[in-house]
Amino acid sequence: MLDPSADELREWGNSVIQFMADYLGDLRDRNVYRRMSSREIRQRLDSALPINGSDFDALLNIFRDNIIPFSRQNAHPRMFGYVQSPGTPVAAFADLLASTLNANLTVWRSAPAPVELERLTIDWVRQILGFNAEAGGLFVSGGSMANLAAIAAARQAKDCSSGRLRIYASSETHFSVAKAAALLGIGRENVRHVAVDEHFRIRVDDLFAKITADLEAGYVPFCIVANAGTVNTGAVDPFEEIRKVADRFQLWMHVDGSYGAFAVLAKSARKLFAGIERADSIALDPHKWLYLPVDVGCVIYRAPEIARAAFAHEAEYTRIIGEEADEAFAFWDYGPELSRRFRALKVWMLLKGVGLDSLAEAIESNLACARHLESIVQASDDFEMAAPVELSIFCFRYVPVRLRNESSQAIDAFNERLLVALQRDGSSYLSNATLGGRFALRGCVLNYRTTLRDMETLLDDLRRVAKSLPVSAQTHNASNLTRE
Ligand SMILES: Cc1ncc(COP(=O)(O)O)c(C=O)c1O
Repeated sequence: MLDPSADELREWGNSVIQFMADYLGDLRDRNVYRRMSSREIRQRLDSALPINGSDFDALLNIFRDNIIPFSRQNAHPRMFGYVQSPGTPVAAFADLLASTLNANLTVWRSAPAPVELERLTIDWVRQILGFNAEAGGLFVSGGSMANLAAIAAARQAKDCSSGRLRIYASSETHFSVAKAAALLGIGRENVRHVAVDEHFRIRVDDLFAKITADLEAGYVPFCIVANAGTVNTGAVDPFEEIRKVADRFQLWMHVDGSYGAFAVLAKSARKLFAGIERADSIALDPHKWLYLPVDVGCVIYRAPEIARAAFAHEAEYTRIIGEEADEAFAFWDYGPELSRRFRALKVWMLLKGVGLDSLAEAIESNLACARHLESIVQASDDFEMAAPVELSIFCFRYVPVRLRNESSQAIDAFNERLLVALQRDGSSYLSNATLGGRFALRGCVLNYRTTLRDMETLLDDLRRVAKSLPVSAQTHNASNLTRE
């Protein structure tokens, strides 16, 4: 098992590929989710510390019988929860190849061709966004890590010896920004939440007022975080106006584009992203809207040498001896990790294999699905939208005749129970958002398999599941099912 022969490898490979083809072949007929408990799953797994090995087929059988059915089927076309990509077969093969080579992308000499492939692929991402030619960056585990790296670089750019640092971001900003501030010692409380307008975009007048008030109070503003697609509603902040504010106060402008930035590829959304290329840094997640499997996030810096000042660390055991500048390149100078897997391979295989035109088409089709949902909700007499659709996220509520005269708390409570019932039913999967203090059903189309018909099926599923729910209930425990 530790070192199989070539024949054994072929046999294992054939079984795995057969299994993969079967799984993806009947994905649409599976439930996205099923009711299950931690205890049930643990009972199915043999918990004894394995002293002797098993054969490969036995492992694959356990995966088929005890892992797959007790997982959420993230590649299902009606998996609308959170910001979940489906993955793609070409990237699954890339992951297999990356692990086979087991390149470790620390510095150029450790993995010359993989490092060049990462630099090339990062440059393609830079071009997609329209950043200047000097911009550069690296792949990280995800959006949270990309936000952390960018905020560390932003701090480096500011002389912070004279007072408490402050970051500004809309109240809709993902919690990873506050978490980064906490981890970097800036403090969660120094992330100032700026008000949003009726489209959930940052209000630039409030941004300006908060920075001015902080300066007067002796704080040190250093960074504005703009959103290219908020996690709740997909709102895209006005980058050109934010750039002006950042320039006026000499602040770093970071964009969290983890969910939405790749929608710049879609013609119908492109104008929303005007000015994104003038940010000082951007966090992106190819494992979201480039449909790749976790984990691959990405951070791009407009001036990478500032990031270098934040991350470079000289130690004797990492000193690079006898190399020219290009070959002395070290990724550890630009991000928090030392050992790094070959994430670039799946990004490269996807971009080169699928091509930008087809990816743009898939993203455009996701946008069309969300807009279709909005239009059928607006045309219905039992659903209402809770926020405008900006990209591919849709927030809405079920308000049939029997609920019309109920209080908004009762309607919210009903929708919360409806969400749990929908998830347990399994045909479609949504998550939730709180908007203006009210509960909303929330979905995000992030799958090239999803069709307009799936959006109609979602509403039919909700109506069907709602039939069995009374208008009010004494107890419910939605919270642990809706959390991710
Ligand atoms: C807007 C936004 N930022 C950051 C993140 C965090 O990304 P990750 O889960 O890759 O760490 C998410 C995740 O959904 C997100 O939607």
